[in-house]
Amino acid sequence: MRISELYKNRFEGDSVSVSGWIRTLRCSKSFGFIELNDGSSFKNLQIVIEEDKLENYSEVSKLSVGSSVSVKGNLEFTPEAKQPFELKASEVEIQGVSAPDYPLQKKRHSFEFLRTIPHLRPRTNSLSAVFRVRSMLAQAIHRYFSEHGFIYVNTPIITGSDCEGAGEMFRLTAGDPNSAEKREFFGKPASLTVSGQLEGEDFAMAFGNIYTFGPTFRAENSNTARHAAEFWMVEPEMAFAGLKEDMDLAEDLLKYLIKFVLSEACDELNFFNSFVDKCLLERLNNVADNSFVRITYTEAVEKLKAAKKEFNFPVEWGIDLQTEHERYLTEEVYKRPVFVTDYPKDIKAFYMRLNDDGKTVAAVDCLVPGVGEIIGGSQREERLSVLEERMEELGLSQEDYKRYLDLRRYGTCKHAGFGLGFERLVMYVTGMQNIRDVIPYPRIVNNLV
Ligand code: 4AD
Ligand code: MG
Repeated sequence: MRISELYKNRFEGDSVSVSGWIRTLRCSKSFGFIELNDGSSFKNLQIVIEEDKLENYSEVSKLSVGSSVSVKGNLEFTPEAKQPFELKASEVEIQGVSAPDYPLQKKRHSFEFLRTIPHLRPRTNSLSAVFRVRSMLAQAIHRYFSEHGFIYVNTPIITGSDCEGAGEMFRLTAGDPNSAEKREFFGKPASLTVSGQLEGEDFAMAFGNIYTFGPTFRAENSNTARHAAEFWMVEPEMAFAGLKEDMDLAEDLLKYLIKFVLSEACDELNFFNSFVDKCLLERLNNVADNSFVRITYTEAVEKLKAAKKEFNFPVEWGIDLQTEHERYLTEEVYKRPVFVTDYPKDIKAFYMRLNDDGKTVAAVDCLVPGVGEIIGGSQREERLSVLEERMEELGLSQEDYKRYLDLRRYGTCKHAGFGLGFERLVMYVTGMQNIRDVIPYPRIVNNLV
């Protein structure tokens, strides 16, 4: 039986067995209490052990924190106590004794310290709650798209093309490092993907609505609390859709996911609201009930210029919005998620559809309080000649993107999509401040533990 089920169903008087790891243990000569956790919830189960009921009482009472045990016993209600019930043990089988230098003792450890023990930190309240919410969100994403008729596509991790055209890819090497020929992927240059979008577009041109959900890699040297070298992205792509439909989908998806965790992860969210971010629940409830703001980049720049505050990075039409600007818009001006559309073409990727003004593209970023950019997307350039011209301007080889250009030659159509950064989503719904603490094994600049 999992401990979460006991809390849900309260089998009073029933004989139950549970297995887990000891969080704390207090014992006297004749009786004692164990707080057991099995990872199914961050709630512990209190276990009462008594000398005259257990053959191995003296061994059990000396166990150290972190040891694993399997316990059989009767569940009894304890209306006067802090916990609703406790397990009166009739049998305790010791599975594995924890060495006395176990680093997770009963006290609050800093997130910085926990990052030094990635193999043990999922056993703490905070990180186990984060990773349970991460798992629920992944499942909710698949559920959302499946309910809305999107086909799930697995795009390649090893690729020969640079989706963002920004050259921030990790190159693959293989075989004998001294042989120039073998150093590449079977003689050809190959990299880890930065985005599944280009392949996603292929599939949208066959299935209409698709999504990808997988790992992506960026070699950008950004040592911040929001950038990882390896992160997961959710990328829907829709044929016969433009920027408005793209934003409608993004808003509906985010609201669905927030409502999902509000109802399915109450214990975890209450915990984050108490210990990580006191405004979390208020903010999430507010998002679920209100529409997102939609403004153009030009309007955003005007708002920022009119701000009474000094930014470190001066605002001018043409700049890429910095985190401080994104946070000002979402946290001080609008106090909710904001879509910013129609960015200058010079700061966006080659595949975004050129607007009639010839200066801006049909791009959209979704910015949220606390995190900044959580989604980046666009309507795609479906006109062959405009795309070719843009690629030439940027010096991108048509040979390398032949397949992508083919889509514009064989039944091209209006289409749009976006990429949702999965870790940024987890940060947003948990209130966690550092991307290192929402990834099981973070791969960040200077960090390969
Ligand atoms: O804005 P980006 O770069 O967009 C794309 O890659 C498009 N091809 C997506 C598409 O239209 N299908 O990245 C999308 C999102 C960002 O908004 C951000 O949430 C996340 O991916 N992201 C990162 N998350 C963590 N670490 C990084 N280094 C990230 N770079 C982007
Ligand atoms: Mg972006």
